Amino acid sequence: MLIEIPDPSLVLLIGPSGAGKTTFARRHFRATEVLASDAFRALVSDDEGVKDADSDAFQALRFVAAKRLRRGRLTVIDATNVRPRSRRPFVALALVRDLPVIAVVFDLPQAVRQARNLAHRALPAEVLEQQARGAGDSLPVLRQEGVSQVYVLDSEQAVEEAIVRRRPIAVRPAIAPGTPAGTASVRQLELLEP
Ligand SMILES: Nc1ncnc2c1ncn2[C@@H]1O[C@H](COP(=O)(O)OP(=O)(O)OP(=O)(O)O)[C@@H](O)[C@H]1O
Ligand SMILES: [Mg+2]
Repeated sequence: MLIEIPDPSLVLLIGPSGAGKTTFARRHFRATEVLASDAFRALVSDDEGVKDADSDAFQALRFVAAKRLRRGRLTVIDATNVRPRSRRPFVALALVRDLPVIAVVFDLPQAVRQARNLAHRALPAEVLEQQARGAGDSLPVLRQEGVSQVYVLDSEQAVEEAIVRRRPIAVRPAIAPGTPAGTASVRQLELLEP
């Protein structure tokens, strides 16, 4: 599958734990383009697995995403992103800058999901399946949420064979000449609230 990524844009990786989001991001994007929830959990708490750091970690992640998008930099969100309320603030940050949002959904067969999970974080089966259902349920609603293009990787082969191609697009300046300093950033800060 050819995955065409407008550059700049916001890329949401969507899928349960172990689906291969981080592996995919590492393979297809620059390290600085990828904002990973694990990395931000580690930055705020010294431990990427500490779930009670989620609120601080995601706030910091959204802050950096806002800065990158404001500067017209391609930004990849490496988090499960399986719930509409998780995706909403990221989509808003891109749309306020008129940047397209691309979703790459990992919808792998159950057997693959379970085997990966066992070897990876070994989350409880019900947690994993809830995440997987969330990813599947997101498919019909992503467009309504503002996502312009949805790519579904539904097998290990599809993931393996995926080709990511960037397509440069024109962007409007972050702050139009003559705009009082701060006008744009106030709007962005409002979007940062959880
Ligand atoms: N294409 C692939 N083929 C085979 N194994 C893979 C593939 N992608 C990832 N894996 C393996 O699956 C495991 C989970 O991958 P990865 O860490 O990329 O998942 P993730 O979606 O980022 O999970 P999490 O949401 O928990 O961070 C790793 O052990 C990785 O080596
Ligand atoms: Mg990961």
